[in-house]
Amino acid sequence: MGKSTRSAEIRSRRTALVTGASRGIGYELTKLFARDGYDVVLVARSHDRLQQIGTELEESHDITATVISQDLSVPEAAEELYDATTAQGIRVDTLVNNAGIATYGRFYETEWERYRESLQLNLVTVTELSWRFARPMCERGTGQILNVSSVSGLYPTPKAAVYAAAKSYLISFSVALANELAEDGVTVSVLCPRETDTAILEKGGIQHSALPENDLLDPETVAQSGYTGLQQGDTIVVPGGIREKLLYHLPRVLPKSMVASTARDHWETE
Ligand SMILES: NC(=O)c1ccc[n+]([C@@H]2O[C@H](COP(=O)([O-])OP(=O)(O)OC[C@H]3O[C@@H](n4cnc5c(N)ncnc54)[C@H](OP(=O)(O)O)[C@@H]3O)[C@@H](O)[C@H]2O)c1
Repeated sequence: MGKSTRSAEIRSRRTALVTGASRGIGYELTKLFARDGYDVVLVARSHDRLQQIGTELEESHDITATVISQDLSVPEAAEELYDATTAQGIRVDTLVNNAGIATYGRFYETEWERYRESLQLNLVTVTELSWRFARPMCERGTGQILNVSSVSGLYPTPKAAVYAAAKSYLISFSVALANELAEDGVTVSVLCPRETDTAILEKGGIQHSALPENDLLDPETVAQSGYTGLQQGDTIVVPGGIREKLLYHLPRVLPKSMVASTARDHWETE
């Protein structure tokens, strides 16, 4: 292959940056991008795990995987991540804002630091990363942003009020951005899964819910829905079937107080 053909090919390769790529839904999304020939940038805190995934993906697909270990719950995280990609000459074609934590417990009994961390990670960093990467995407006239929200974003949820409200913000933010950036050739999608079999529930202090354990979605299916929805240009993506669509649409027509007590009963662990 001639040198100019090779460099044209390299330039035409697309890169997806996925936050929270070390496990769960983010890991599954990263595999889908790699499978389709995207170079990937893997972001999370677990450096060794990211290195291991990166090596596996490079070996099984003809792609480049770059690892950036970063705590995204600190205020300077988005700027540092953007600067790190720029310094390495990486053009991010697809930004996947997936990293997130859940916080479950009585509002005033939960440590403020836990809320600060979750708001910074689930909301502020997502907004700032979108803001930083949207400009170069719009200037190129092409790009994709996938924000991972939750069906909880439709349910004001007692004992998870902060998490549900942050996910609600993400839906509103993404739908508005999708409309605004469409004229610049940039697609924005928001993924709204229901309970999925990952570490997030346990880490968030949720031991039991009204849901039987075998009734969780699997992260592969959720990631595939998000990936397909983004590539199709769907703005709101709800993985699953008719039940999940109902879960998404029902709270839009019921009184908010009824929605809150339903959500409370669902997650009550005591
Ligand atoms: N699972 C569900 O039931 C469900 C339902 C609806 C929506 N979601 C959403 O799906 C997204 C992914 O969650 P998941 O279920 O896949 O959870 P998960 O398995 O716990 O994965 C969370 C990911 O986020 C990363 N992360 C957490 N804190 C971070 C921090 N401070 N800085 C950087 N990265 C951080 C974790 O990596 P490190 O620990 O290595 O940093 C991990 O890769 C979240 O936004 C969540 O709200 C999940």
